Amino acid sequence: MTQDEKKQAVARAALELVEPGIVLGVGTGSTTNCFIDLLGPLADRLHGAVSSSEASAERLAALGVRLLDLTDVGRIPLYVDGADEANAKLHLIKGGGGALTREKIVAAASERFVCIIDDTKRVETLGRFPLPVEVIPMARNHVASRIESLGGRPVPREGFVTDNGNVILDVHELRIDDAPGLETELDGIAGVVANGLFSRRPADLLLIGSEQGVERF
Ligand code: 5RP
Repeated sequence: MTQDEKKQAVARAALELVEPGIVLGVGTGSTTNCFIDLLGPLADRLHGAVSSSEASAERLAALGVRLLDLTDVGRIPLYVDGADEANAKLHLIKGGGGALTREKIVAAASERFVCIIDDTKRVETLGRFPLPVEVIPMARNHVASRIESLGGRPVPREGFVTDNGNVILDVHELRIDDAPGLETELDGIAGVVANGLFSRRPADLLLIGSEQGVERF
């Protein structure tokens, strides 16, 4: 089974969790795109979707899914999104697509966060994937030097500007044993908008596409 087939399989499994009439939170990335592409026939039966990025919003709109602003929405019963890494505690690294801040906001506002990945993303210890950190542009050097003092090697994501007008530092060489502790510490650096650790608000359900089918944790 190819990686793409695994992504399609988890997307189909997530679709089964979508109930008619709900407000759906929708993430960003190639796995989430597989999920979005299945939503077309359901578009009329959804109340609408809150998107975590401009790219996903465009894809949803093209399928006729009504887009909702988070500020106008009371509750989001279900949020479906991918990840770059996931461990057994359902702690995640996200932000490979650069949408981490809005993803974190939608995840925080959601009652149930269902994360969909293929089995290449399952890890014992987070940190093999460089940790994305969204930073206010003027704070880039300040944040980079604070991250270096924590043992990370921050690399600016060249030519990339987030939907919020900020820059991303991809932090290499972090071994993340205490994800909630590091998540809090990074958020405490002046100039950091958000970091890609999702451990204080982890996934509620992890669907993993593998050779065995879709595994649920
Ligand atoms: C975007 C994300 C994505 O969910 C993450 O990068 C995984 O993407 P893909 O499904 O393309 O591997 O966090 O900010």
